[in-house]
Amino acid sequence: MCGIVGYIGGQEAAPVVLEGLTRLEHRGYDSAGVAVLGGRGIRVAKRAGRVRDLTGALPKRFAGSTGIGHTRWATHGPASDVNAHPHTDETGRVAVVHNGIIDNSAALRADLTGAGVELTSDTDTEVLAHLVARSDADTLEGKVRDALGAVVGTYGLAVLHADFPDRIVVARNGSPLVVGVGDKEMYVASDLAAIVRHTTTVAMLDDGEMATVTAAGFTTMRHSDLASTGKTAEVVDIDASAYDAGEHESYMRKEILEQPTTAQAVLRGRLDERFGTAHLGGLDMDARDLRAVRRVKILGCGSAYYVGQMGAALIEELARIPADAEAASEFRYRDPVIEPDTLYVAVSQSGETIDTLLAVQEIRRKGGRCVGLVNVVGSAIARECDGGIYLHAGPEVAVASTKALTNMFLGFALLALQLGRVRDLSIADGKRLVAGLERLPGQIEEVLAAEADLVDVAKELAEARSLFFIGRVRGFPVAREGAQKFKEISYRHAEAYQTSELKHGPLALIDPEVPTVALVPSDELTERNIGALHEIDARQGPLVVITHEDVDLGEIGARRIVVPRNEPELDPILLTIPLQLLAYHAAQHLGHDIDKPRNLAKSVTVE
Ligand code: F6R
Repeated sequence: MCGIVGYIGGQEAAPVVLEGLTRLEHRGYDSAGVAVLGGRGIRVAKRAGRVRDLTGALPKRFAGSTGIGHTRWATHGPASDVNAHPHTDETGRVAVVHNGIIDNSAALRADLTGAGVELTSDTDTEVLAHLVARSDADTLEGKVRDALGAVVGTYGLAVLHADFPDRIVVARNGSPLVVGVGDKEMYVASDLAAIVRHTTTVAMLDDGEMATVTAAGFTTMRHSDLASTGKTAEVVDIDASAYDAGEHESYMRKEILEQPTTAQAVLRGRLDERFGTAHLGGLDMDARDLRAVRRVKILGCGSAYYVGQMGAALIEELARIPADAEAASEFRYRDPVIEPDTLYVAVSQSGETIDTLLAVQEIRRKGGRCVGLVNVVGSAIARECDGGIYLHAGPEVAVASTKALTNMFLGFALLALQLGRVRDLSIADGKRLVAGLERLPGQIEEVLAAEADLVDVAKELAEARSLFFIGRVRGFPVAREGAQKFKEISYRHAEAYQTSELKHGPLALIDPEVPTVALVPSDELTERNIGALHEIDARQGPLVVITHEDVDLGEIGARRIVVPRNEPELDPILLTIPLQLLAYHAAQHLGHDIDKPRNLAKSVTVE
């Protein structure tokens, strides 16, 4: 959420910073800005809108080989030119870009105003620029330390000061920052995606850490007392092309199509055909630890929460341990009882979602064991957990999560299998599920190969003002995820319901204008599901049914989308893939910006 890029070296900074910002735009795309520091001091260009709007509007003279930039997702104050970062002090000698939230900004603004400072924006960030400018420390590091000493909140930030033209100072507390090492040039960014094309030699700052970055290198220190932390850079094993959309017209499309491959990646080396189990070394739990688990509580936000519900069902079915999922954003606020024999599982693509991170911290503060299902290696949640399962989905850039979500489901299947096999799950069932998991990537490919069959259905759904997504038991979280994906990128009202609950209220809304997307797998509930379809059909509600070949809908007038069968426990993920495609084609038909849906951003790092 919000992106930061900085450059210092021998090149003109603005083009490097702007190119980096375009790679971070998925993290916030309300407004963008850049500040450069050259012979004439600091110059700033910023405006509401996309990075491309800013690039087209840069002033003619905008030279400087040191620069910082920002792409914003508005929290305090609307998206406007004046609220865009960088923010400067009154003299224009200090420029700051910031991710996160300054919780005490109202009090700091009042203090500054009382001292005669004229604040020009509505943002919380602006106070930082004034605080840095007003410090009488004689180094930039000292000024930033003083400013941060007054601040309560979360931040990843980068600071330029005209009196210290040889450096950028960056600091982190709760919002990621990475320093990249080039050849007589250095980069800073809030996300590797911005700089991997230039360098893969990087140092990730920890919370409480600050760095001085010059063209020649960097040094790190604690920002409370400037004591050295001595961090060195490491080479990360990342393929820069993984961050490109390649020939695809959107990242979402690329990421949907990558799923057969990324699904293999999360399973690789973790399945044991002989004993019908999974090996998850990263959990750091032996059979005795796993057997001691009496309950599983899964925490995630948004789609990660919905897939957590799918995971809970898998764990309860396979391991016969009571399991449930809860929105991490609510968990902390109800003062939850943390039990020593409960296994807490935090699930997150980015590993940065603040609500999930704070839930993990609360669990650990109270002595609970929390493991992570996380995609981004070394991210805050991954580091905070006691162990975990990396998802290996590769970088996910589109705001709407697809391939990471599929790998979350598979991660839960592996966990359920391992928990089950140290308890009552039979070897025969274990082997059945291992074989099912091995078949899944190929079956995902089959679903994707049938994409053309659902394009017209998606276009019809796109025309509806409101839709239902319904499913039962294993199918209900799938319906929730389907509705989520559809509303996120098509902006249509899409509501998920348990099929069984329809007649207890929402059936009143069914009419020829309100389509229902129904999940009807071939399982013990098929008959009941078909009963509900009759009730919708009788009220002329248009129906799209995601189902299996052997399910006979009889006289019901419905558009059928057939997916291959796997094992019933694993079917939910195959039912999910067509829902991604329906959302994608509906949004495309409506001409929306699929990768950057309005009002949203990838990685929600504010509460
Ligand atoms: C929906 C979506 C969001 C995220 C949620 C959690 O497509 O992407 O609902 O799932 O913000 O994000 P992570 O997984 O990064 O914690």
